[in-house]
Amino acid sequence: MFQEPDRDCDLCPRLRGFLLELRETLPDYFNAPVPSFGDPAPELLIVGLAPGMHGANRTGRPFTGDWAGDLLYSALDKYGFSKGTYAASPDDGLELTGAMITNAVRCLPPQNKPVGAEAAACRPFLTDQIASLKSLKAIMTLGKISHDNTIRSLGLRLKDYPFGHHKIYEIQGDRRIYSSYHCSRYNTNTKRLTEKMFFDVFADIRNYISG
Ligand code: URA
Repeated sequence: MFQEPDRDCDLCPRLRGFLLELRETLPDYFNAPVPSFGDPAPELLIVGLAPGMHGANRTGRPFTGDWAGDLLYSALDKYGFSKGTYAASPDDGLELTGAMITNAVRCLPPQNKPVGAEAAACRPFLTDQIASLKSLKAIMTLGKISHDNTIRSLGLRLKDYPFGHHKIYEIQGDRRIYSSYHCSRYNTNTKRLTEKMFFDVFADIRNYISG
């Protein structure tokens, strides 16, 4: 099994300081590295950017309680990767089936923007995770930061695997990366990412995994 950063991980001084402040001002929030969620033997790993302030950083479960999660969890349901009903809370009883969700950076960054050194410091967790998930067939990267981090965590070169919406790359034998625009409120409000565009990537992933 792979390691998650522990609650008091101090690899990133800026993020650690931010979380310590939030433990004072928002004591009911999770305010710690958010652990991965889902099937312990997934075929699909979804890599988000980082916890959102009032979503994952509040609830302690990736994408839970914010806008991006509404779209992501509805896609997981539609394409057969979950059991139960998503109700935006870690005690909603939702289970993922064949999928796991994690983040490239596991602590909440100020303004939702991790700096390069933070992404690099968090990367070994993703490297170990991918290496230890033997059942994995597909990795879905949400947004460029997540994509680039995932490519780097695999020891691959960014110029050989450039980010783009609905790009598909073969890596490590028959494992594949599917990249998507991030399902953020901004991207969906501006129609950079429509529900159909997002679901189309999921449809391909489902065909590949089940095919
Ligand atoms: N919540 C997460 O956990 N990750 C994201 O990338 C966005 C929201």
